[in-house]
Amino acid sequence: MGMAETGNKIEFMKRTILITGGAGFIGSHVVRRFVNKYPDYLIINADKLTYAGNLENLTDIENKTNYRFEKMDIVNKQQVLDLFKKYHFDGVIHLAAESHVDRSITGPDEFVFTNIVGTVNLLNAALGIWKDQPEGKRFYHISTDEVYGSLGAEGLFTETTPYDPKSPYSASKASSDHLVRAYKNTFKLPVVISNCSNNYGPNQFPEKLIPLVINNIRNNKPIPVYGKGENIRDWLFVEDHASAIDIIFHSGKTGETYNIGGENEWKNIDLIKLLCNIMDKKLGRQSGSSEKLITYVKDRAGHDMRYAIDSSKLTRELGWSPSLDFEHGLEKTVDWYLTNQKWMERIISGDYEKYYDQQYNKR
Ligand code: NAD
Ligand code: DAU
Repeated sequence: MGMAETGNKIEFMKRTILITGGAGFIGSHVVRRFVNKYPDYLIINADKLTYAGNLENLTDIENKTNYRFEKMDIVNKQQVLDLFKKYHFDGVIHLAAESHVDRSITGPDEFVFTNIVGTVNLLNAALGIWKDQPEGKRFYHISTDEVYGSLGAEGLFTETTPYDPKSPYSASKASSDHLVRAYKNTFKLPVVISNCSNNYGPNQFPEKLIPLVINNIRNNKPIPVYGKGENIRDWLFVEDHASAIDIIFHSGKTGETYNIGGENEWKNIDLIKLLCNIMDKKLGRQSGSSEKLITYVKDRAGHDMRYAIDSSKLTRELGWSPSLDFEHGLEKTVDWYLTNQKWMERIISGDYEKYYDQQYNKR
C-alpha cells in the first residue's frame, strides 16, 4: 500500500477504499466506476442491504478481484470497528443513508440512527486508525442540497448558504455534515463533503419520482403528483454525480465543501409530462394517453418548494461539468427501465432480497 501527495491531488497506489451504501442507487454507480477505473484499488462495499440496497445492481463487477462486499450495519459500532480493523482503509466514501423524504416523515427514527449515529461511528473508526498518520487519508461524506432548505423563485444554493433543513431526512443529513466538519476542526480528521441535487438514472429505487412515474405509466397506474406539481428540482444524471465524486475524492481540498448540480431545473409537473411523452413514443401508445394517468394527490408535509445548485466552484476549481443533457439522460433512463423490467418486477415483488441469500450463502 502507498500514497503520494502532489499539490492538492492525492495519488493512491494499492489503496483500500471503503464505500458505504454501495448496493444503493448512487453507491452502486460509484462502486462500479471505482472498481473498473482503478484496478489497483481494493474496493470494499459495506452495506446493510435495507429495502433500498440491492446487490443485483452490481452483478457485472461482483467477481472482480479488486472488489469485496461486506454486509454490515453502520449503526452497529462494533461491526464498524471490526471492519476498519480488518481492512485498515486509506479512504472512505460514505453514501450509506436512509434517503427518502416521505419515509422520514412517517418514521424519522431510522434516519437519526443511520444518518447521524452511523456517520459518527464511521468518523470514530477513521479517527482511530488515522489519528497518528492522517496524511494522504480522506473521509469523503456524500450529502445533499436539501440541507440548505427551500428556495423561492430566485437564487441558487452555494457552499456558503446557511443550513436550514426542513424535513427529518434533511435535518439528519445536516447533522451528519456538521459532525463531519466538527471532526475536521476538533480532531484534524481529513474530511471533504459534497452536497448534490436530485439524481436520476438506472437502478433508482421506484419510490423516487422518476422510476415511480416510469413504472406507473408502463402499468397504466395513476401518476401521483404531490400538491399542484409546481415544486422545482435540479436533476443530475447519476453517472455525472459519480464522476464528480471521483474528482472530489482525488483532487478536492481537505476540509472543503463542493456543491454538485445539473443546472437543470424542472417543475415536477413539466418533468412528468415530458416523461409521459417519451413513454408514449417508446411504448407505441397514442400521444397524450400517459398524461391521462396524472392524478393530483395530497401534498407532502412541509414540501420544499425549490432546490437549485450553483456548482461553479467545482467546475472552476476541479474542472467538473455534467456530461449529459437532460433529454438524452432521461431517454437513456427510460430505455434502461424498459429493458430491465425484471429488475423492477423483482423489487416490487420483494424477490431481490432472495438474491443475497442465493449469491452469498452459497460461498
Ligand atoms: P439509496 O437509498 O438508494 O441507498 C442507500 C444505501 O445505503 C442502500 O444500499 C442501503 O442498504 C444502505 N444503508 C442504509 N442504511 C444502512 C446502514 N445502517 N448500514 C449500512 N448500509 C445502510 O440512496 P441513494 O439515493 O443512492 O443516496 C446515497 C447517498 O447520496 C445518501 O447519503 C443520500 O443522502 C445522498 N444523496 C442522494 C441524492 C439522490 O438524489 N438520490 C442526492 C444527493 C445526495
Ligand atoms: O435534492 C436531493 C434529494 O433528492 C436527495 O437528498 C434525496 O435522497 C432524494 O430522495 C431526492 O429528494 P426529493 O424529495 O426531491 O425526491 P423525490 O423523488 O422523492 O421527489 C421529487 C419531487 O417529486 C418532490 O418535489 C416530490 C415530488 N413527488 C415525489 C413522489 C415520490 C411527487 O409529486 N409524487 C411522488 O409520488
